[in-house]
Amino acid sequence: MSERITIKSQREIEAMKAAGAVVRDTLLLLEKSAAVGVTTEELNRIADDYIRSCGAIPSFLNYEGYPKSICTSVNEQVVHGIPGGYKLKDGDILSVDVGAILNGYHGDAARTILIGNVKEEVKKLVEVTRECFFKGIEQAVAGNHIADISAAVEACAKEHGYGVVRDLVGHGIGTHMHEPPEVPNFADRARGRGPRLYPGMTIAVEPMINLGTADVAVLKDGWTVVTRDAKPSAHYENTIAITTGKPEILTL
Ligand code: MF3
Ligand code: CO
Repeated sequence: MSERITIKSQREIEAMKAAGAVVRDTLLLLEKSAAVGVTTEELNRIADDYIRSCGAIPSFLNYEGYPKSICTSVNEQVVHGIPGGYKLKDGDILSVDVGAILNGYHGDAARTILIGNVKEEVKKLVEVTRECFFKGIEQAVAGNHIADISAAVEACAKEHGYGVVRDLVGHGIGTHMHEPPEVPNFADRARGRGPRLYPGMTIAVEPMINLGTADVAVLKDGWTVVTRDAKPSAHYENTIAITTGKPEILTL
């Protein structure tokens, strides 16, 4: 991770928009491909092929030793689930997280996909997680602080009694997948208000919201983050750019 928050030029933001488009289109393809009986490894293959066909590189592959090109996290898995032989079942929710590098710039985004008939209560969790992102980025305007985004995401989740994951956070993004600043999904006195937002900052805002408590653990594979109470969790992420007006979403 580079040390300082970087301000991107208009040219750089255009480059990030191009990388973001690859990520967005990969996610759309995954949304069409994910169905009962499909394995998460098959989805990994589809995504990897598509990203490369765009002349981009899947940024997750080999990132700190991560073995696959996307993350697929089912039900109680929060994030960083590793694609494999698991066959999607009716009623599952599947979070897919995709990152791509195009011409040196990164895009990073995630969606939670409903597989077949999902229980009403779980569907609601998925909808609210997306809503939390949009509430968060209403605050992503120049002059506000990172904590204004965090507080808005947290308030949205708490309104529904959900657990907000605290162990993982959003992040700056650009020529690296993870740049400063951290973008928590909760407001924390100890962290203060965080950096102020300026036009040209690019960040990934990514609420990870649990139906039950906020507590998570990591499986023995060293990657997969799961809820401790085994209740479902949803994830929704986009890369955005701070502008002089409303934030620009680069992966939607
Ligand atoms: N999108 C994830 C993040 O923001 C990255 C996945 S971790 C990886 O942290 F190891 F798979 F790359
Ligand atoms: Co991210």
